[in-house]
Amino acid sequence: MRQVLGNWPGSLHIALTLVTFPFRVRAGGFCKSINTRVSSVCSLSSVLMTPATHIKSRCTVYPGSDQQRFPVPDDKVSWATPWPEYSPVNYTAPSVLRNPPWADPDIGSFSPRFNALDGSVDRRSHEGDYSIQDGRPLNPRGRTGLNGRGLLGRWGPNHAADPIVTRWKRDSEGKRVSHDVTKRPVLQFVSIKRKDCGEWAIPGGMVDPGELVSLTLQREFSEEALNSFQASPQQRKELQERISKLFSSAGFQVYKGYVDDPRNTDNSWMETVAVNFHDETGDSVSELPLQAGDDAGQVSWCDVDSAQLLYASHSHFLQTVAEEKHAHW
Ligand SMILES: *[C@@H]1O[C@H](CO)[C@@H](O)[C@H](O)[C@H]1NC(C)=O
Repeated sequence: MRQVLGNWPGSLHIALTLVTFPFRVRAGGFCKSINTRVSSVCSLSSVLMTPATHIKSRCTVYPGSDQQRFPVPDDKVSWATPWPEYSPVNYTAPSVLRNPPWADPDIGSFSPRFNALDGSVDRRSHEGDYSIQDGRPLNPRGRTGLNGRGLLGRWGPNHAADPIVTRWKRDSEGKRVSHDVTKRPVLQFVSIKRKDCGEWAIPGGMVDPGELVSLTLQREFSEEALNSFQASPQQRKELQERISKLFSSAGFQVYKGYVDDPRNTDNSWMETVAVNFHDETGDSVSELPLQAGDDAGQVSWCDVDSAQLLYASHSHFLQTVAEEKHAHW
């Protein structure tokens, strides 16, 4: 214990010692047992990100609405395939049409500069230049059966960042734990239970206009991790410093590009940059006492394991991390 928790201020140290043991026992199974009960609007967990076609982006009912997408068969996904009968549903969610700060106005009432840094809004795609048709950007992966922006704020790419924070799983003496079958050391990552669908996910979020991706990664992680437990201002400050230090290290870029997301439309789509920040020695954020909180948002260290069902493409990201670290998968 002392080895693992040694660097914490005294008061927090005692508190941690009290919560750590039950937490450890629960941690691995906890994430999994929740998952077995999940079947939700987010659906189609752990779809692999194939560069060829998108699948979730064609899900029948658009999330948060009763809008049904025009069915797009695999062989009609590509814009290069002529399809005169194609008649997508036009839908932009009321929350987007109310013109919140994170959303663009409607096309026609403003003139965005696509494929460019447009003021502070980055309208460039990680996938290269996308086409514009009738003033609207076209989804680089093809048809989705729905045009407009749906739930997404930006015409064209909507940029997100996914911080994958990992540590080695350790036993009560601080020794690394290896998996019974694969004999490889087990990684753990910081995971949050999404409020919208109850699935476990990496604590990512949208890149704010003008914000560097490196800052988004740190901000999203800090918000989730720091809000998940009670800490004094002094403890909070120390945690923030540790997080800043870890995130200022060169992370391992796991993925950069299009995300097959159920919110995608013909004119708006999600893209992300996923970066792994790994606490190798266990004396940085490994000591974050993350544990199940109330039902409205939980943060936890979860084992990196192929059996772990996760939101969207996150499973694919973790596999990449496990391979890079020669860890159990
Ligand atoms: C699509 O719907 C929006 C409102 O949701 C409307 O402003 C726009 O004119 C419509 N576009 C087309 C091409 O019908």
